[in-house]
This record gives sequence, structure tokens and C-alpha cells, in this order.
Amino acid sequence: MGLDSPFEGRLIRLRAREPEDAPLLHAWFNDASVTEHLSMRYPLSHEQEERFVSGASVTGYFAANFAVVTRDDGRLIGGAELRDVSPENRTAILGITIGDKACWDGGYGTDTMRTICRFGFEMMNLNRIELDVFAENARARRVYEKVGFREEGVRRQAVYKYGRYQDVVVMGLLAGELALE
Ligand SMILES: CC(C)(COP(=O)(O)OP(=O)(O)OC[C@H]1O[C@@H](n2cnc3c(N)ncnc32)[C@H](O)[C@@H]1OP(=O)(O)O)[C@@H](O)C(=O)NCCC(=O)NCCS
Repeated sequence: MGLDSPFEGRLIRLRAREPEDAPLLHAWFNDASVTEHLSMRYPLSHEQEERFVSGASVTGYFAANFAVVTRDDGRLIGGAELRDVSPENRTAILGITIGDKACWDGGYGTDTMRTICRFGFEMMNLNRIELDVFAENARARRVYEKVGFREEGVRRQAVYKYGRYQDVVVMGLLAGELALE
């Protein structure tokens, strides 16, 4: 009997970040349609992106950083991480971006969420994974609900972008609550 790979979902695979990922990340995170619902707002230089990738390529318990690649052909389509891990509380904060817009609504985000949450529970022994999502990010909220996250509260007017405030929704998932299909 073979074990399921902790890095693989149905459509995607998680791997460590590599320096050669930087150019695609630079393009994605300078694209306003990708960052619309992210807290980032300033232009990113190649140097900043290279520094980010080199920091994020040192992965481990306290910051489990992954590139998201297609399972079929290993093509880079995004990134995801579990950060700010608290060993006492067994909690982590999750972030995800599918930067390749051609992949949106193709099931990749959902599969990435399932895979990284399974990794957090089964490989890191987390008890709780949480995230913040902009209230207007309907696609992301749908994905998080689909995989089992629950809305726990609203941080009113917590973000200001595009000349107006919007609320930020706090969502959490406990061990045992991950909806695998
Ligand atoms: C949010 C994100 C991770 C989702 O990934 P994805 O690959 O597009 O998601 P999936 O294809 O797995 O699922 C999308 C779901 O949202 C639904 N959806 C799409 N647009 C929607 C909308 N405007 N309102 C409600 N649901 C919507 C789709 O129908 C699908 O649900 P279904 O499977 O029930 O039909 C990805 O779009 C992304 O990275 N966006 C930019 C960065 C970002 O917003 N990151 C999250 C920050 S909290």
C-alpha cells in the first residue's frame, strides 16, 4: 500500500520556491488584477522579488512556503504558505495566490487549499489554520467555504484601496474540518 504524497493534490503539486520562480512572481504581483484583493499595493522591483524568493526558499516549520505547480507538467501557477506558526497554540496563518489568471476558476485554488491544509494538519500537527479575506473577494471566499473554513468575524473597514474602505473577513479551519471533496 503506497502513502499519498503530502505535496500532491488532484491537479497541483507543492514544491519549494526556487530563484528561477522570481520573474513570473514579478509579473503576477505587478498585475493589478492579481493584487486587487491582496494587501500589496506598491510596485515591486525585480530586486524585491528576488529577495522575497530567496527568503521564502528557506522553508520549514515556522514558515512553510511553497510554489504551486501543475501536477501534469510542473508549470508554476502560484504560491501558498503557512506562516506565523505558533507551536504553543498549534496555529498558522495561510496565504494563497494562483497568479496564472488562465487557471482561475479551473479548480486549482481549491485543490491547493486542500493540499496545503492537509499538509498543515498531517505533517505539521497544526490544530487551527486561519486567514483574512477581503469581503469583496467572492471567488476566494467561495473556495475557502468549499474546503471547510468558517467565517469567524469581520474586521470592519480594515482595508483601504481604490479610494474606499472595505471589510476584512476572518476565517478559520480546525483539524478534522477539512472537506476533502
Ligand atoms: C482566490 C483564488 C486562490 C481562487 O483560485 P481558483 O483556482 O480561481 O479557484 P477554483 O477554481 O478552485 O474555485 C473558484 C470557485 O469560486 C467560484 N467563483 C468564481 N467567481 C465567483 C464570484 N464572483 N462569486 C462567487 N463565486 C465565484 C467558482 O465558481 C468556483 O466555485 P465552484 O467550484 O463551486 O464553481 C485565485 O483566484 C487567486 O489567487 N486570486 C488572486 C489572489 C487572491 O485573491 N488570493 C486570495 C487572497 S485571500
